[in-house]
Amino acid sequence: MGLKEVVVADIVHETPTIISIYLSMPDGTPIGHYTPGAHIDVEGPTAITRQYSLCGRPDGDDAYVVAVKREDDSRGGSAALHTLKVGDRLKISEPRNLIGLAGEATHHILIAGGIGITPMHSLARYMDVRDISFELHYFASSEEDAAFLPILQEKCPEKLHAHLGISRDAQTGILEQLRDDAPDGSHVYLCGPQGFMDKVTGIVSQRFNDTEIHFENFHAGDQVDESENTTFVVELEGEEYDIPVDRSIVDVLNDNGAEIDTSCREGICGTCIMEVLEGVPDHRDNVLTPSEREANETMAVCISRSKSPKLVLDYF
Ligand code: FES
Repeated sequence: MGLKEVVVADIVHETPTIISIYLSMPDGTPIGHYTPGAHIDVEGPTAITRQYSLCGRPDGDDAYVVAVKREDDSRGGSAALHTLKVGDRLKISEPRNLIGLAGEATHHILIAGGIGITPMHSLARYMDVRDISFELHYFASSEEDAAFLPILQEKCPEKLHAHLGISRDAQTGILEQLRDDAPDGSHVYLCGPQGFMDKVTGIVSQRFNDTEIHFENFHAGDQVDESENTTFVVELEGEEYDIPVDRSIVDVLNDNGAEIDTSCREGICGTCIMEVLEGVPDHRDNVLTPSEREANETMAVCISRSKSPKLVLDYF
């Protein structure tokens, strides 16, 4: 994974627990454009790498902006980023996008829960200046806890539906209503805590199929019982490799000279996706969509394994 060094150019306190960190190139050169909804890997002061959505203006090139919520149970990732000062250095990856705008959609429904506003903020700002049809539903516990609410109220008040301090039961009614009111041709985009994502997905999937639902999910999938792992064989470029029960596909392949990039190693970022030419993967990631899993044409080799005795893989 190629990381580049950047410098903290500014820090803005968005809410009592959320800061925006502005990252620039140390030599002052442009940091580059990205597509709205993209995220980067950030290696923090404790060398822990996490994925963060870029939440500034995608067409600006002077700084990347990530918003970081200080989690109560942080193991060093978000808490360490909250200790940063202007001038500190970090390492980041190039932007990747798992939640880009669907070109075939005629209307875009953005649904954010809490800190899940970060990719939605960049998508909304991008669409607003281009007159692309969208609506943004922002669920947060209070106005004080709703990052970017003032700028969204200023820039796109008629597109913004702020649902603040809404009970879980009332959320259900709002989500069902927006699902039923959605114009034909809509696509839905989700980001938020896992429980919120599960709830929204359950409601909107009653109308939209999974090619019309896009999500960014920086959470690992359910824990699987690794004691049930089995051995299998992976073939890559004509060579066969045994995958033992206690090693991942990517570790075995890279130890044998393959060059497969990884980042999260938990099945959430999509960096290690490979093409499946033969065999049936045992998907354990949280990055492929249900239809991608069903198609068995790709897999996340940092975490997924095999249901068949052999997989034939290729670089994606
Ligand atoms: S390295 Fe992130 S999904 Fe495999």
